[in-house]
Amino acid sequence: MTRYEQLLQDLPKHPKTWLITGVAGFIGSNLLETLLKLDQKVVGLDNFATGHQHNLDEVQGEVTPEQWDRFNFIEGDIRHLADCQKACEGVDYVLHQAALGSVPRSLNDPITTNETNISGFLNMLVAARDAKVASFTYAASSSTYGDHPGLPKVEDVIGKPLSPYAVTKYVNELYADVFAKSYGFNTIGLRYFNVFGKRQDPEGAYAAVIPKWIEAMINDAKVTINGDGQTSRDFCYIDNTIQANLLAATTTDPLNLNEIYNVAFDDRTSLNTLFEMIKTALAEEGIRYNRAPLYNDFRSGDVRHSQANISKIWNSLGYSPSYDVKRGLTIAIHWYIRSLGQEQK
Ligand SMILES: NC(=O)c1ccc[n+]([C@@H]2O[C@H](COP(=O)([O-])OP(=O)(O)OC[C@H]3O[C@@H](n4cnc5c(N)ncnc54)[C@H](O)[C@@H]3O)[C@@H](O)[C@H]2O)c1
Repeated sequence: MTRYEQLLQDLPKHPKTWLITGVAGFIGSNLLETLLKLDQKVVGLDNFATGHQHNLDEVQGEVTPEQWDRFNFIEGDIRHLADCQKACEGVDYVLHQAALGSVPRSLNDPITTNETNISGFLNMLVAARDAKVASFTYAASSSTYGDHPGLPKVEDVIGKPLSPYAVTKYVNELYADVFAKSYGFNTIGLRYFNVFGKRQDPEGAYAAVIPKWIEAMINDAKVTINGDGQTSRDFCYIDNTIQANLLAATTTDPLNLNEIYNVAFDDRTSLNTLFEMIKTALAEEGIRYNRAPLYNDFRSGDVRHSQANISKIWNSLGYSPSYDVKRGLTIAIHWYIRSLGQEQK
């Protein structure tokens, strides 16, 4: 039995209180669903900057009324220390997800990205430290590898950041390290590589590529590829990311703390290949997309290639991702077809 399978059996027998910041967002709401289904108590904090009430409503529909009663939602802002302090009261494990994502958003509005991702992060560190939580796991980012060309990416070899967003995520790691050294407050940073799955927002200028393309293809709209289509990413299905969070939060080995871990599948898919994979998966669902993609300029701030070495998290935390891109896409596409169909009713 893997450590994760063991954990899924043990958690319901010994329920804990978890805080998920950014709970109304894509990753946060998926963490919420998993934890409530495991009969955990969950506090959620969000200001709906990019998250949605409908994500929370959907989770409510997926769990029993008793499980939903174990969820306490606080509408609040990580830029306000008092909101963070309130959210951390009585909490065992913190999963800090709240941030403004998106490289282009950070280029258009570096100040708000900085305030949320750096000042908000610092508030959460202070509040969690003072509340003496048992563990603090936070969403770091593969953007921290910046301009370093080496592949696959290994945690301790990084380059210079290519965007304000990447700066903020790197500063998170620096602050986390200083909190360990200065206050003995240990954390775990998870460097996510392009997570995808249900409830990832397909709308708006800053939407991620997978939900944006799935929605466009379902609606027979044009799909635009930035650059030549050879840009590649280590796309990671949401369930793998959830696994990494639960393993990190509950690790009992002190050697695993105050560390950064890659969270990915350890594969590389080019945008051209991704386009074909989504097209094929939709065709299997009876949706045919016959348009060719349009090619645009390269996007500034984008890393050219990305693929993770996941040995560290595998060996230290027992992470063993079970969803490759194809399997994840099939499940995600089912969900988008259903949810977009419901919207159109
Ligand atoms: N999705 C990815 O591929 C990816 C990759 C690397 C890192 N990350 C990181 O993972 C985390 C979650 O990302 P996501 O994809 O779920 O994005 P998301 O936008 O769906 O979720 C972020 C949530 O944080 C909330 N939030 C933003 N500012 C806030 C504030 N000031 N106070 C309280 N809540 C606030 C938003 O309303 C939203 O619900 C972020 O930290 C992001 O930087 C995501």
